[in-house]
Amino acid sequence: MTIEEFVKLRDYIYRKVGIYFDEKKLYYVEKRVEARMRSIGVDSFRAYFAWMRFDTSGRELQELLNALTVNETYFFREYQQLRCFAEEVIPEILKGKNNQNSKRIRIWSAGCSTGEEAYTLAIIIKEMTGGMPVTWEIHATDLNTDVLLQAKKGLYGRRAVKDVPEVYLARYFRRMGEQFEIRSELRRQIYFYQLNLLDRENMRKMVDFDVIFCRNVLIYFDDSSRREVALYFYDALRKGGYIFLGHSESMSRITPIFRLRKFKNAIIYQK
Ligand SMILES: C[S@@+](CC[C@H](N)C(=O)[O-])C[C@H]1O[C@@H](n2cnc3c(N)ncnc32)[C@H](O)[C@@H]1O
Repeated sequence: MTIEEFVKLRDYIYRKVGIYFDEKKLYYVEKRVEARMRSIGVDSFRAYFAWMRFDTSGRELQELLNALTVNETYFFREYQQLRCFAEEVIPEILKGKNNQNSKRIRIWSAGCSTGEEAYTLAIIIKEMTGGMPVTWEIHATDLNTDVLLQAKKGLYGRRAVKDVPEVYLARYFRRMGEQFEIRSELRRQIYFYQLNLLDRENMRKMVDFDVIFCRNVLIYFDDSSRREVALYFYDALRKGGYIFLGHSESMSRITPIFRLRKFKNAIIYQK
């Protein structure tokens, strides 16, 4: 792949989904494009790019995006942040709903990958609200359709569950040989579906959330696409709603519209 070809493809992907590959990623992108070319049987980048752009079903673009996204994740990732969610944020949310008879909490795991983050949040919220008049639901979305299929299956290897406390492993997973299956009681309240964070029309349908987790997703974007997503998140949150980003990510750098809150265990942004 020449540098010109790389830039053409890179810019195309950036416009569609906000992920920005700088020139250092040429090799990474090239390897994955070559695999796609072999799979559909074309032997020049030119032919591949034309095929992808004029495939009106969007299937080839989706296959390429599935190959290009980085999906690394595991249960109970960034433990201190989750402690903050459990011990400080959930009680604040419940307090804010004090005048409601039946309290309903809506959470969004944006860029959920294979589902570990969404199931982790489900375990935490179930533990923290058990026996209370509280209902909850989690929306878990991703661009990559392959990871969403895995997320819905809810079947994980030892590496994914290495940080799950033993008591939760026994309570929320069913051991199947070397694999761990999420119990159905947890699955029922999680909705997995595809959503591109830069898809304006569908992002506008995301409303009324108390909390958004978007961790380790915006690191692949540039500042301009990060800002666009941050504004959609703002509209998707209820007044006073919270945003959790990955520990290396900062909302204040992107936009000043959120309030920065320093809790005991983490820094969180609030509408
Ligand atoms: C590294 S994973 C993060 C998973 C999880 N949030 C965590 O922190 O463990 C990043 C995910 O973001 C998704 N992603 C990247 N660009 C996206 C976009 N434009 N819309 C939705 N999801 C996107 C990728 O497909 C990938 O699954």
